[in-house]
Amino acid sequence: MSACTFIKLVLVLLTCAAPRRINSQEAERRDLVKMTLVQNASSTGAYCLDGSLPAYHLDRGFGAGARNWLLQFEGGGWCNDIKSCLERAATRRGSTRYMSKVEVFSGILSNNASLNPDFYNWNRVKIRYCDGASFAGDAVFKNGTSLLYFRGQRIWRAIILDLLPKGLGQANKALLSGCSAGGLATFHHCDDFTAHLPKNASVKCLSDAGFFLDARDIAMNHTMRYFFKSVVTLQGVVKNLNTNCTSSLSPYPEQCFFPQYALPYIRTPYFILNTAYDVYQFHHILVPPSADPNGHWYHCKLNPAACNAVQINTLQGFRRYMLETLQNFLVNSTRGGMYINSCFAHCQSESQDTWFAPDSPRVHNKTISEAVGDWYFGRKVSKEIDCAYPCNNSCHNQLG
Ligand SMILES: *[C@@H]1O[C@H](CO)[C@@H](O)[C@H](O)[C@H]1NC(C)=O
Ligand SMILES: *[C@@H]1O[C@H](CO)[C@@H](O)[C@H](O)[C@H]1NC(C)=O
Ligand SMILES: *[C@@H]1O[C@H](CO)[C@@H](O)[C@H](O)[C@H]1NC(C)=O
Ligand SMILES: *[C@@H]1O[C@H](CO)[C@@H](O)[C@H](O)[C@H]1NC(C)=O
Ligand SMILES: *[C@@H]1O[C@H](CO)[C@@H](O)[C@H](O)[C@H]1NC(C)=O
Ligand SMILES: *[C@@H]1O[C@H](CO)[C@@H](O)[C@H](O)[C@H]1NC(C)=O
Ligand SMILES: *[C@@H]1O[C@H](CO)[C@@H](O)[C@H](O)[C@H]1NC(C)=O
Ligand SMILES: *[C@@H]1O[C@H](CO)[C@@H](O)[C@H](O)[C@H]1NC(C)=O
Ligand SMILES: *[C@@H]1O[C@H](CO)[C@@H](O)[C@H](O)[C@H]1NC(C)=O
Repeated sequence: MSACTFIKLVLVLLTCAAPRRINSQEAERRDLVKMTLVQNASSTGAYCLDGSLPAYHLDRGFGAGARNWLLQFEGGGWCNDIKSCLERAATRRGSTRYMSKVEVFSGILSNNASLNPDFYNWNRVKIRYCDGASFAGDAVFKNGTSLLYFRGQRIWRAIILDLLPKGLGQANKALLSGCSAGGLATFHHCDDFTAHLPKNASVKCLSDAGFFLDARDIAMNHTMRYFFKSVVTLQGVVKNLNTNCTSSLSPYPEQCFFPQYALPYIRTPYFILNTAYDVYQFHHILVPPSADPNGHWYHCKLNPAACNAVQINTLQGFRRYMLETLQNFLVNSTRGGMYINSCFAHCQSESQDTWFAPDSPRVHNKTISEAVGDWYFGRKVSKEIDCAYPCNNSCHNQLG
């Protein structure tokens, strides 16, 4: 993937992550949470790309939720070569120096019972993303003039060790979640999260928009496979992937970075939240700019209503592939849950309007918040798959 493509990719993610406009009354009620730098991270070399300390934001739980913990990985793409990682190291995606020091907690992180009925009173932690490899790398680049830390795996460890004595170590209930690159991170840390918590705790994991497919693009190229392979190789990720997966996929252990190959080896109960037309995957896996040099997909990418019949068919093929890869999980995972809707969106648990609102997306009349809560608390089987676009739905189709 070229640097230019990468920059576009970052722009798309930034656009998607841009907070919606809020009025002043709303602003007063916002849940603003301060950043905590992990001072002890330096003792293990757990640095952000640029050498700054990693960080998280913790909003304490209360009442009946005081001993429950939700940890959420921030997302934000990846960097796959020295050039793109050096650029990233000078931004909020690669350095806590450039990050906002106060974050708004909304959606699954909200502390308001009427906006987040199942998790509002838990301890809620947003883990900042500054390594560029979904918290899974462990390497250093150093050549005399440039220095880059690829320490995602150490950052994960430093943050867990920092939180354990703050109450995480005595958790009754816990959920590890994340969106996009953060959703991908959940797959690679879920069982390790369980291993750090009390044996009698209820521990589960949720991936939001992290189910990146090993799919071919419209030019029949494995664009994403090569991109992930370059991330994994650059940042020394293979040794941190599930060893049962990497040994079974030998000689292509890097393939275990894809959730579809890692998932069967994960023992902790999982919830897969994704749209079948995930906008990031549509724009970067199915139709990356390299596969559409003449821009035939330009209008379709901006607005699904502008797609022609052939393009819609191609998108339906992508949806079918996603459902195929999840078929075993759907049928055989007794403790799993899923919500595969048909919106053109990316990340649905973090913003209030998609997580839980009067007009938020519904499948079989269930919001995402209800589906995740039903699964987490075992209230009922929670495996929802929406009908294919353009059936009647409640999407906001946030194409940015
Ligand atoms: C919780 O959210 C509801 C709905 O937006 C709002 O009416 C209420 O004031 C909020 N409560 C608090 C404590 O912020
Ligand atoms: C910091 O790390 C050192 C070495 O790993 C450890 O001995 C110490 O307990 C840690 N301190 C805190 C406050 O976590
Ligand atoms: C180190 O790497 C950077 C980025 O690739 C490059 O610009 C620089 O010239 C290299 N320095 C040396 C001494 O090779
Ligand atoms: C787990 O065991 C500890 C110690 O016996 C107890 O304090 C805690 O409440 C238990 N947690 C759950 C979820 O049962
Ligand atoms: C690999 O599988 C074995 C046997 O099922 C299991 O005991 C072991 O914990 C697994 N390792 C990992 C890293 O999941
Ligand atoms: C497919 O990938 C190859 C190797 O990366 C590249 O040379 C070729 O231009 C790509 N073709 C298209 C149509 O993107
Ligand atoms: C469910 O598991 C059984 C036993 O491992 C397997 O034979 C079957 O193919 C699986 N079902 C699907 C849909 O993958
Ligand atoms: C859908 O759910 C809402 C509450 O979430 C309920 O008020 C409404 O009656 C339900 N609609 C149908 C058709 O079941
Ligand atoms: C969508 O809803 C409209 C209005 O309720 C209805 O006329 C139309 O037939 C529906 N379309 C589909 C595909 O169900």
